[in-house]
Amino acid sequence: MGISYLEKEQIFKIDTMNSSYACAIVEDFLMHVYYGRKISDDDIRYCMRIYENPFTPALNNRDRGVFLDSAPFEYPTEGVGDYRNGCLRIRTMEGHEGCSLSYVDHRIYKGKPKLEGLPSTYGSEEDSETLEIVLKDALTGLVAKLSYSVFDGIDAIIRSVSLVNEGDNTIFLDTVLSSCLDIDNKDYELITLHGGWARERHIDRVPIGYGVHEVSSVRGESSHQMHPFMALVDQNTTYTDGNVYGFSFVYSGNFLSSVERSQQNTLRCICGINPKGFSWKLNKAESFNAPEVVMVYSSCGLDEMTHSFHDLFRDHLICGANRSNKYKDSSRPILINNWEATYFDFDTDKLIAIAKEAAKNGIEMLVMDDGWFGNRSSDNMALGDWFVNEDKIKGGLKYLVDEVNKCGLKFGIWVEPEMISPDSDLYREHPDWAIAIPGREATLLRNQYVLDFSRKEIVDEIYSRIKRILQSANIEYVKWDMNRGLTDIGSYALKNDTQGELFHRYMLGVYEMQQRLADDFPGILLENCSGGGARFDPGMFYYSPQIWCSDDTDAIERLIIQEGTSLVYPLATMGAHVSDCPNHTVGRVTPFETRGYVALAGTFGYELDITKIPEDDRNMILDQTKMYHKYNDLVRNGDYYRITSYRENHLNDCTQIVSKDKSRSVVTYIKVLSRPNCRSVNIKLRGLDSNKVYKVLCDKNILSVNKTEEDMLLLHGDTLMNAGLFINESSPDLYGDFKGALIELVQL
Ligand code: GLA
Repeated sequence: MGISYLEKEQIFKIDTMNSSYACAIVEDFLMHVYYGRKISDDDIRYCMRIYENPFTPALNNRDRGVFLDSAPFEYPTEGVGDYRNGCLRIRTMEGHEGCSLSYVDHRIYKGKPKLEGLPSTYGSEEDSETLEIVLKDALTGLVAKLSYSVFDGIDAIIRSVSLVNEGDNTIFLDTVLSSCLDIDNKDYELITLHGGWARERHIDRVPIGYGVHEVSSVRGESSHQMHPFMALVDQNTTYTDGNVYGFSFVYSGNFLSSVERSQQNTLRCICGINPKGFSWKLNKAESFNAPEVVMVYSSCGLDEMTHSFHDLFRDHLICGANRSNKYKDSSRPILINNWEATYFDFDTDKLIAIAKEAAKNGIEMLVMDDGWFGNRSSDNMALGDWFVNEDKIKGGLKYLVDEVNKCGLKFGIWVEPEMISPDSDLYREHPDWAIAIPGREATLLRNQYVLDFSRKEIVDEIYSRIKRILQSANIEYVKWDMNRGLTDIGSYALKNDTQGELFHRYMLGVYEMQQRLADDFPGILLENCSGGGARFDPGMFYYSPQIWCSDDTDAIERLIIQEGTSLVYPLATMGAHVSDCPNHTVGRVTPFETRGYVALAGTFGYELDITKIPEDDRNMILDQTKMYHKYNDLVRNGDYYRITSYRENHLNDCTQIVSKDKSRSVVTYIKVLSRPNCRSVNIKLRGLDSNKVYKVLCDKNILSVNKTEEDMLLLHGDTLMNAGLFINESSPDLYGDFKGALIELVQL
């Protein structure tokens, strides 16, 4: 890792373990030079190819526009000649849009600064380094500080931008994106994650034609539909081979990630806050911080990219809001949540009955979901009335929590702080607290409105109500939900010329309240959630080590959701539960055991009425909870490899986790659909030590082995990785659809 400035060439060079990134000062412009495999400190300005034609301004200012519209820029601005989409678009009080940034200064220093009010990666002076480049627009006095940070041992570069108005007049920022990468196209393809409710983060891969391809959200949350991540890959990139450029945006609100293929077959990849619905008034001397983008380059396929994101998020993002949070680096309790067990139909007795049965089976925490407050008997009312409903919670919350604790279980609770039901005391008292356009009836979604979290007094009131609840009993977990997107954007508190700030100010309010929770309750495990996984994004990981991945708990649907999610996010962040069958979302019936294998790849827990499920299923829970503890260190800290993908082959799904020291590994194999009369499936493992011998253990009799060696299968790492193992899908243990098995490898 290292950042340097090559004085003579005026090149800034950023090296990570295996990648190099370079930009240069050319005339007064800051231009992009190189991003890819690691290279030496040479004069590589020729990579920009700007001296090939006569259009460089110093040579031919007559055609300056040709240069501006084709050169690779580090932080392109709009309105003065570059017609591609830019990162910065401003508007002056006179209504003019142009802006042109020139190099002023730079500094390189140890450590990684925090972004005030925003989630951001963190590092120490020992393990991180930062480059800050200052650019300025001469006419308006607007200053852009570009920041680049790197961490020891991680192939990622963190970028962000801060704008400061050093001029005399107010400036409106109509677009402020966080990063740009202008590179030559090599017939790259684009990978993004798309979805909808109950089918979040499915992987999409398409060729990149001319023009603009974007994924974005205008819903006020990162959303079910699209995701703040994209990757450029070679046409033949696989999980194991090929070039990958990955971009992840550390933000939970409206975003834009786009790739523009230009007339000259270059690609401009930009990421940041979605300019739609955004405008920020920047008065003299004020500043604005744009959130971070993480860029990862891998020359060895998608798995390497995944490892970089996982390591970065685990070590430098998760629980950044309070690094002394109890669960930052430790195993989380196995929870049972009553949502799919009871929905709104529960009371103290039912919850205690579930807790008692759960305790016998190795479950460690009961989570009381939606319906415990106000007069909430369905999802039509009471959001905002954060007072315990003692008709349901007979004896009060403290009594219930104490009883659950007596059973040996921790206790957790569900809240949805950002929402307000029209049928609530809070709304009757403060109808102007909801986001709405004055005079227009706001659109209802799930029969609720969104509170205007851009207003401090609203955040304060909601926080104090929730804090009172959390302090009233021994509550050790909070599920923070958000069940609708934002529409009808209007705030009763913002001025005419600052209404465009509402979306972002809303996010700042949410982050502020989550920060307060993290400060005041470092012992609490916070799980974010948004109608399932609509706010499963890196921004939220700064506050909570896990996020509910999807309302779809069906084991087979989850294979696809978890494949897309784990492409970027560590396994132990994915809220994953075993639920009852037929599955409530898709009606599918899968073996209880398989549901356990699939949930094992996430946080692991249960979402069912343990007092009512079939006895055979209940009898498996104790073993499953033991399995969780046996493998949880691997799941939380290991390197994750994708061996086969049901999404691609429609037949089976196989993943592998290997401990960092390569001494242990666990492989999960799910046979989704049975096929008659087929030969066994060859799986080639990865990430092992070639020269070491591993003991191969399987919880089922499914491996094709030499008859004489059935008892003890010993194989070298290189054999397991090159010859692989053979899964005999016709074995009785895999008979039928949706069957699975675990294979454990232990180095001798
Ligand atoms: C959302 C969540 C669910 C559950 C319900 C409660 O849909 O994703 O897990 O908490 O809300 O209303």
